[in-house]
Amino acid sequence: MANSSPASFLTQANAILRKNLTYQKRNIWSNVRLIMIPFYLCVVLVCIQALFDSQVNKSLDNQCGCKCIHKTGAEKCQMVCGVEYSTREQGVFCAIPKPQPWPPLILIPLPRYGAVDSNLTDVSCKQRNNCPVTILLTGRNQSLGATLSRNLLRRSFAMNYSDLLFSLADNVLATTYKGSPTNYLDAGIVSDRFIYNLQPRCTQNSNFSFSIGQPPLNFTKETRCVQGLNLWRNSSREINNEIFRGYYKGNPEGMINEFVAAYDLLDTNRTNFNVNIWYNATYLDDSGNRPPKLLRVPRLVNLVSNAYLQYLKVPRTKIVFEFVKEMPKPETKLRLDIASLIGAVFFTWVILLLFPVILTSLVYEKQQRLRIIMKMHGLGDGPYWMISYAYFLAISTLYVICLMIFGSAIGLKFFLLNDYSLHFVFYFLYINLQISIAFLASSAFSKVETASVVAYIYVFGSGLLGWFLFQFLIEELSFPRHWIFVMELYPGFSLFRGLYEFSQYAFQGNLTGRDGMKWKDLSNSSMDEVFYIIIVEWFFLLISAYYMDKMSSSGKGLLFYLKNPFEKFLSPQSPSLQNQVSAVSVEMDKLDVIQESEKVEKLMSERKTSHAIVCHKMKKVYSGRDGNPPKIAVQGLSLAVPSGECFGMLGPNGAGKTSFINMMTGLVKPTSGSAFVQGFDICMDMDRVYTSMGVCPQHDLLWETLSGREHLLFYGRLKNLKDSDLDQAVEESLRSVNLLRGGVADKPAGKYSGGMKRRLSVAISLIGSPKVVYMDEPSTGLDPASRMNLWTVIKRAKTNTAIILTTHSMEEAEFLCDRLGIFVDGRLQCIGNPKELKGRYGGSYVLTMTTAPEHEKDVEMLVQEVSPNAKKLYHIAGTQKFEIPKEEVRISQVFQAVEKAKRSFKVFAWGLADTTLEDVFIKVARSGQDFNVFS
Ligand SMILES: *[C@@H]1O[C@H](CO)[C@@H](O)[C@H](O)[C@H]1NC(C)=O
Ligand SMILES: *[C@@H]1O[C@H](CO)[C@@H](O)[C@H](O)[C@H]1NC(C)=O
Ligand SMILES: *[C@@H]1O[C@H](CO)[C@@H](O)[C@H](O)[C@H]1NC(C)=O
Ligand SMILES: *[C@@H]1O[C@H](CO)[C@@H](O)[C@H](O)[C@H]1NC(C)=O
Repeated sequence: MANSSPASFLTQANAILRKNLTYQKRNIWSNVRLIMIPFYLCVVLVCIQALFDSQVNKSLDNQCGCKCIHKTGAEKCQMVCGVEYSTREQGVFCAIPKPQPWPPLILIPLPRYGAVDSNLTDVSCKQRNNCPVTILLTGRNQSLGATLSRNLLRRSFAMNYSDLLFSLADNVLATTYKGSPTNYLDAGIVSDRFIYNLQPRCTQNSNFSFSIGQPPLNFTKETRCVQGLNLWRNSSREINNEIFRGYYKGNPEGMINEFVAAYDLLDTNRTNFNVNIWYNATYLDDSGNRPPKLLRVPRLVNLVSNAYLQYLKVPRTKIVFEFVKEMPKPETKLRLDIASLIGAVFFTWVILLLFPVILTSLVYEKQQRLRIIMKMHGLGDGPYWMISYAYFLAISTLYVICLMIFGSAIGLKFFLLNDYSLHFVFYFLYINLQISIAFLASSAFSKVETASVVAYIYVFGSGLLGWFLFQFLIEELSFPRHWIFVMELYPGFSLFRGLYEFSQYAFQGNLTGRDGMKWKDLSNSSMDEVFYIIIVEWFFLLISAYYMDKMSSSGKGLLFYLKNPFEKFLSPQSPSLQNQVSAVSVEMDKLDVIQESEKVEKLMSERKTSHAIVCHKMKKVYSGRDGNPPKIAVQGLSLAVPSGECFGMLGPNGAGKTSFINMMTGLVKPTSGSAFVQGFDICMDMDRVYTSMGVCPQHDLLWETLSGREHLLFYGRLKNLKDSDLDQAVEESLRSVNLLRGGVADKPAGKYSGGMKRRLSVAISLIGSPKVVYMDEPSTGLDPASRMNLWTVIKRAKTNTAIILTTHSMEEAEFLCDRLGIFVDGRLQCIGNPKELKGRYGGSYVLTMTTAPEHEKDVEMLVQEVSPNAKKLYHIAGTQKFEIPKEEVRISQVFQAVEKAKRSFKVFAWGLADTTLEDVFIKVARSGQDFNVFS
């Protein structure tokens, strides 16, 4: 016996989970293909890297130079590599056992950005491009400060080229280059044309040039004199203020403070030397990534120490800071990781590629109306959401895990250098966001094609925009960071940003042989803001997606709330039209129809009712489009169907039968009126109604890859059938619709013939003994034997179920239905059981006679004789059909007349028939339409 309580959340979730598992098992190969995509793409990336390696990384310019040397006595030459055989480009890659000593430099702003006074108001030097370099001093004893500040810079310079480093150390040399991660070559010496020479006053002959280093790493430098300015301030607070004001003002390129440094001499006196030095400890190297290894601070310490020493002793005393020198270095190779460089855009595509897959699968279920048919059989939104979300999450997670595994296995630095857990958490959060977006977007699409086109545009558009626009803006440091943040609100860009940071870290890590991104780097890399954005958007979008889905599945479109007020305003004629029509209809209504609506009125006033379906004055008006008048599909239908009855709905095409069924199954809302199924209002409690409802739609809604048995198991579970009950019900149901023979039940439904699909649909609608079943032309396309079979099934199911059935087969209506209603132009024209209807409308016989065409007139005269009121229905090539009122003739008269006629001319065939249901239908339909033409 079927369980009458509706299925719980878990039962429903279990049902759809099992169905989906079976479905995905059938589609295992498409799932595997999906998961293999990252593999193919990673291989592509590796090929690009291999190509790049062979062309760039392995090119002779990018490794230490070698030469074939003939040793004395040896026959063949021998390859030797080293700095001495290299060009300057190759030299950097060679082993350097004795690195070059470089003169120590201090860091100064470009001459056009130097600060001159405390208010930074004098800008004339900036225009002339010769601002002095300013050092600020303070301390307890101003006169001591003045002495030291005089000693800080050398008044006259001296060059002794035979002892180059020493005499360079005697001068105060400076650069505007901050330094690089390695110091085999000082960026200040290698990159800049000038070395600046700080002097209290510049004279004509204060410039000189020198050459430093050994070939091929030798550089000729010109020095350029810059005026050094030492300014006394009364307190360290003042200095702080000024340095703060000098911070990054009008100095976009350098990003160096307009002040070079500041000294606080504190309580320094003859016996005590105590200094604080201000310098910028957060400078990043010239590629903007890491603090340079060699801070240019030691020389600042040396400067003030020398000044103090000279104040203590004689002017010539000094501590010479002669050079800086890097540790010895082995031979290195160029390791440009191209995969990391293009990784951002590449992996953006890889991850985004899941989006169209998810979106199309959601829209497909909507387009094929599988979603709604599941809902009609009692599947709630909650289980559907939960299981679909879980499925997409599982497949996406597998996808990114595969991506990470393949990527690492193939040796992509992008994965190897960055922290795996960081990668995983980032992807996991993002795929959650992506699924929410897909859910939200799915409510906006009704066609798979449009959805997939839009989704792919999103995928490739985001990648390309990210690459060409967003990356450019990230790297353009003067672009305001808050606008970057705003752009990251677009999900494609937040993904791109995350991957971009990963690739930057991997690239740098590879170049310098360090690790990539770790959790502790999260905040330096602005990765944290990406994480926050993704998490917040995920929650927000998930909630709005759920809300949108609820709105659209309850029959209200996206714009429902916006559109409604305008509709009333735009078509003010519609209410008056409806009133007018219903006023006319009252007098035209037939007695039986009036009786039915009286019965409904009575039922409505009672609380409890044994009637499974009660419709009360249901009306559906489709609003007019493009200037057409509104279309009235159903006009004030009142109907009551008790349990155990099969009600047949007949009517010509377009009469409104399907609109009626759609309203009853919750696909569309009635414009006015109400209906109760098992006492639940279809406008308020549709979810409760669905739990006791079965539907056999006009077009079969089946999953191609699931078998008939699996369909029935799924719907049976939704109807809360369990264990042995379920198996029994499915078996019985398969047998009754004749799908058990030949293993048909276990073949995929996509392979079924039209008739088999139809039978399966009927079986689905009846499984779990629903209290109310709607069948839209259940037997179309069936052979007579199957049809008979199906009818017996329906007849048997009728015992404790109310069935509403539409059909075009009169035979079916007569066989199955206890009552019939003929529906014309949205209105019931008559209602009653088939016998009554025939009696009421079929007050005539139908005489058909076939003769040679020239005798048509004779036949007509003969009929006139028998019955003056006979009506000719049609004539064609000698065959004529007449309708003869029953009260005018007796059958024997007709026979006699025909016998007489046979004697005077040749009658090929003739027949006399009582009215059939078909005649009734044609008559009623015609009269209904005639009436409507007049009104
Ligand atoms: C300040 O320094 C000068 C030497 O430059 C010294 O003569 C004087 O005593 C110092 N004043 C104080 C208050 O220490
Ligand atoms: C230059 O340096 C060399 C070597 O230290 C020294 O012998 C020579 O005297 C110096 N010349 C001058 C002019 O100081
Ligand atoms: C610093 O102190 C001296 C003397 O104490 C005073 O004349 C001068 O105006 C002060 N400077 C500033 C900028 O306050
Ligand atoms: C210190 O250096 C960093 C990096 O170059 C720069 O962004 C910052 O503005 C500098 N700070 C000051 C006070 O100049």
